[in-house]
Amino acid sequence: MTKPTTNNVGIPVGSDNDSLTVGTNGPILLQDHYLIEKNAQFNRERVPERVVHAKGGGAFGYLEVTEDVSQYTKAAVFQPGTRTDSVIRFSTVAGENGSPDTWRDPRGFAVKFYTSQGNYDIVGNNTPVFFIRDPIKFPDFIHSQKRRADNHLRDHDMQWDFWTLRPESAHQVTWLMGDRGIPKSWRHMNGYGSHTYLWENAAGEKFWVKYHFKTDQGIEYLTQDEADQLAGADADHHIRDLWTAIEQGDHPSWTLYVQVMPYADAAEYRFNPFDLTKVWPKGDYPLIKVGRYVLDRNPSNYFAEIEQASFEPSNLVPGIGPSPDKMLQGRLFAYADAHRYRIGTNYTQLPVNAAQSEVNSYSRDGQMRYSNPADPVYAPNTAGGPHADPAVASETHATFGIEDEVVRSAYRLHSEDDDFGQAGTLVREVMNDEERERLANNIIGHAKKGVSEPVLERVFEYWRNVDKDLGDKVAQAFGK
Ligand code: HEM
Repeated sequence: MTKPTTNNVGIPVGSDNDSLTVGTNGPILLQDHYLIEKNAQFNRERVPERVVHAKGGGAFGYLEVTEDVSQYTKAAVFQPGTRTDSVIRFSTVAGENGSPDTWRDPRGFAVKFYTSQGNYDIVGNNTPVFFIRDPIKFPDFIHSQKRRADNHLRDHDMQWDFWTLRPESAHQVTWLMGDRGIPKSWRHMNGYGSHTYLWENAAGEKFWVKYHFKTDQGIEYLTQDEADQLAGADADHHIRDLWTAIEQGDHPSWTLYVQVMPYADAAEYRFNPFDLTKVWPKGDYPLIKVGRYVLDRNPSNYFAEIEQASFEPSNLVPGIGPSPDKMLQGRLFAYADAHRYRIGTNYTQLPVNAAQSEVNSYSRDGQMRYSNPADPVYAPNTAGGPHADPAVASETHATFGIEDEVVRSAYRLHSEDDDFGQAGTLVREVMNDEERERLANNIIGHAKKGVSEPVLERVFEYWRNVDKDLGDKVAQAFGK
């Protein structure tokens, strides 16, 4: 037997087809509270889309730690044999909710671990580097990748104008224009924490780390032509792929590795280890295996569990801390602030965002508060309320010491720091001939869509700085 339909407070309703009217042809009555509730609720169905990474999808799974990295961190989530529940959200960056999954763009790789010490989030991408190295430029960078003010069109001239004026973008743009810029599916790409983080072990020793989630499905990509076809034929190609695989019991997995740098190495390492436009070559700091990350459950409700999922780089647990990476520092503010606006003050009470460990916070009230702390409502108190303990708190450990002047300045350069070197290494030493060919063609194709002088001349110069042959090839395609 089907259940009787009710309104939002359980009162049975008479019809989902006919409104209450005066006679069959008469006007509708204000007393039709069900009609009003239904339409008023509908008008409020949307929350604002994410200002970046609006289009995406996700799933649930777990991390299983198969190795012993306890010599580097005391974080419970990374202790040998620990299995921790997790949610992940994949996304594109610049497109709006509903935009095609196959547009050329970095892909978000945002992971939340429900650890026994509170939620730990790694909010990364499928690339180990980023376009800029100071968060003050993030709004400008994103504006240049989104839409023009006048005609509301995306504009390659504007994109290349920004990129070529900010040469630190070269490494990430090389990744973006290469095969990794359009993964075949979210299952066929790696994830990177990208930033440098700080780990601290039980003895108080500190290490700098970078996270690498390597796909067990193998890296696969789409050509520009394939991606363009799919953008029309199935704009939700990547959401569908992940959903279908998990539904069929084909559970995707990634092997988690870290690169570990001894704390003292940072000061004189050949690259500034906190500069997000740089990688640490694996010859310097090899990958150390941690465990296996598996996705085995689809969401049962997309809006509740994925659209409202809220990831934040500031969710750091005991044994893990931030580094002086300026971008990371900027992000420590940005995400919780965005969630309070996008979802609401009490977003951490939604099941997907709530910790699985005990929450004993003095925060209370606000819109849509579901459960509230009992008395005492203040700290300190003598009434037996929760007691903050610096001995266990993450912010009093996994910290770095700094004593310096207040300045507005670029990073201090380390011996091999420049904007183009690592991008050139990627082109010459990591890519093979076919990959280089596709890279050149992707750049040419992209620049031919509306890039004009004086930006175009800077595009040639930019790529010549990355790699002379590549730059010449791009210029030749424009008869230069
Ligand atoms: C989403 C800010 C850099 C990865 C977001 C959101 C904001 C934001 C406001 C939307 C959050 C929401 O409404 O839920 C910033 C700022 C950055 C920055 C200010 C630089 C200063 C980065 C970097 C990465 C990254 C470097 C990757 C390494 C992501 C991902 C999401 C996201 C994956 C989507 C998370 C999800 O799936 O809900 N960012 N971002 N962002 N950002 Fe960033």
